[in-house]
Amino acid sequence: MDKLQISTSGPLKGEVNISGAKNASLPILAATLLADGIMTIENVPHLKDVTTMLGLLGRMGVELTVDESTHIDIDPTRIQRFVAPYDLVKTMRASILVLGPMLARYGEAEVSLPGGCAIGSRPVNLHIEGLQRMGAQISVEGGYIRARAKRLKGATINLDIVTVTGTENLLMAATLAEGTTVIENAAREPEVVDLANCLIAMGAKIEGAGSATIRIQGVSSLQGCRYRVLPDRIETGTFLVAAAMTRGHVKTKNTCAHELDAVLLKLQEAGADISRGEDWIELDMHGQRPRAVDIHTAPYPAFPTDMQAQFTALNAVAEGVGTITETVFENRFMHAQELRRMGADISLEHNTAIIRGVEKLVAAPVMATDLRASASLIVAGLVAEGDTVVDRIYHLDRGYECIEEKLQALGARIRRIH
Ligand code: EPZ
Repeated sequence: MDKLQISTSGPLKGEVNISGAKNASLPILAATLLADGIMTIENVPHLKDVTTMLGLLGRMGVELTVDESTHIDIDPTRIQRFVAPYDLVKTMRASILVLGPMLARYGEAEVSLPGGCAIGSRPVNLHIEGLQRMGAQISVEGGYIRARAKRLKGATINLDIVTVTGTENLLMAATLAEGTTVIENAAREPEVVDLANCLIAMGAKIEGAGSATIRIQGVSSLQGCRYRVLPDRIETGTFLVAAAMTRGHVKTKNTCAHELDAVLLKLQEAGADISRGEDWIELDMHGQRPRAVDIHTAPYPAFPTDMQAQFTALNAVAEGVGTITETVFENRFMHAQELRRMGADISLEHNTAIIRGVEKLVAAPVMATDLRASASLIVAGLVAEGDTVVDRIYHLDRGYECIEEKLQALGARIRRIH
């Protein structure tokens, strides 16, 4: 099992190109199942989760042409199987995203119930209830969701909880349903908007994506198209936090400059000098130690839960005391005990972490527990005294493309140990 060794690194300096967004690529790849023709998706990141989704589509009979760059041609017109099997779904919960498109396009779907994961129980009840409101017959037995529908019917669906993939599943299903669907309390994440823009390019009739109310007028079919995935705002935020923690000066390029306002405000509060253009964000700490900040995660446009672990690490070495409250997932502080092994002063009270910044962390062998926790341990390793070894980095490879190469180019001392 690969590990990463991170040695004390000076301030990160230079420019880094941001890859396409994982959490937009996955629903958009699932949406290709809706098309009557060939789709070309561009700017898809080379990630384990993307490979898993492509493997799932391939298992169903979708023909894929993946060239060495980030373009993928997808021909969904000869699908034979409508099953998303457990061995694939257990490695990637986002496989649930094929449920809505399969049901809408083929009237049947069998998707393994995604298990929980380290950060929480991750139920999919809202996906199922929404599809049932659209007329689907759904039974859950033997660990599988079995769904049938002659043709889905438009419905008004009010989501009890803001759910990103729940909104995405229902949005995709509604594009081919008969009549109008209204999704109330919809997720407003930029990745939901990117999916909606792709569906509109395929011929879907969608209004209000990015707001809490999305209105979809069902159509009879959707065409293939060429679509470019938006940049990854969480990868961007992760590099900006690494720059802030190392008191460096980094410019993230080919990124989205207006989808990270809540994160950029907190970085400015921490003392960062932030400038931005149409597709770039630059952070300069002028060599200063960051100041501690208070964070409260919530659905977009509030502070994203996927940036919480990285800011826990930042507060661990910042000046002062910072509190971080996690309101989206019930168990997303596992990185705290790993950071404590490196000397961080973190106490947990229910879903709030109180973090007293220390002058110096000390390297230790630590273990990644989930995707974003892995990132927080790496950025902590950059400023810790000695050589930090992060184990179980398969979590990391699911969501960050070539992270060690990108960090090395900024001056980080990091290498993969096989
Ligand atoms: C998406 O997960 C992202 N994954 C997550 O990113 C992200 O952390 C999360 O949204 C929140 O922003 C992808 O987009 C592939 P939710 P998702 O449904 O859709 C509860 C990463 O690091 N809920 O918005 O699974 C749920 O338990 C990953 O890239 C229900 O109760 O998250 C949670 O408490 C991690 N019933 C809350 O809603 C449901 O049917 C938000 O979950 C669905 C969700």
